[in-house]
Amino acid sequence: MVVISKSVSQTKEIGKQFSKFLEKQDIVLLKGQLGAGKTVFVKGLLEGLGYKKLVLSPSFTLVRRYKAGKILVNHIDLYRLDRKSLSSIDIEEYLYGKDSISIIEWGKKIEPYLEKYFIVDFSFINMEKRKLLFSQKGYKRNLKIGL
Ligand SMILES: Nc1ncnc2c1ncn2[C@@H]1O[C@H](COP(=O)(O)OP(=O)(O)O)[C@@H](O)[C@H]1O
Ligand SMILES: [Mg+2]
Repeated sequence: MVVISKSVSQTKEIGKQFSKFLEKQDIVLLKGQLGAGKTVFVKGLLEGLGYKKLVLSPSFTLVRRYKAGKILVNHIDLYRLDRKSLSSIDIEEYLYGKDSISIIEWGKKIEPYLEKYFIVDFSFINMEKRKLLFSQKGYKRNLKIGL
């Protein structure tokens, strides 16, 4: 499924709508270059889950956790992590919490270790326009978002 965003607010809205589709224990990998809009999307997604406070990029901290109602959202950014040190961090503990949803920027780095995940692949069309390509692996869900 492909969705085109023409602005920051549209990317947020797409994230918000996608959040309605998610269930506990889901993992979402976000791909795409720096500045493609991954963090903007996560802000919308968190808003959609009911989290209204400040959302910061986890680039420096690796993981930020947000409590949105009964759901714990792990916002992970693997940008600064080199592939070799992946095994040394205990990321699984975060990923498989029974009440958690995990959204992972630069998720490509962890993809070989996962069985089930959604992918949102961001690419630039121009300064303001982005293409968001949604796909899934391991789940058999009817991937659709109401926009
Ligand atoms: N359609 C759009 N969707 C998302 N961000 C956009 C869009 N158009 C321009 N931008 C800009 O692109 C940048 C995206 O930043 P960010 O979400 O932090 O990217 P990433 O997390 O992928 O590195 C922001 O500066 C934002 O203002
Ligand atoms: Mg980011």
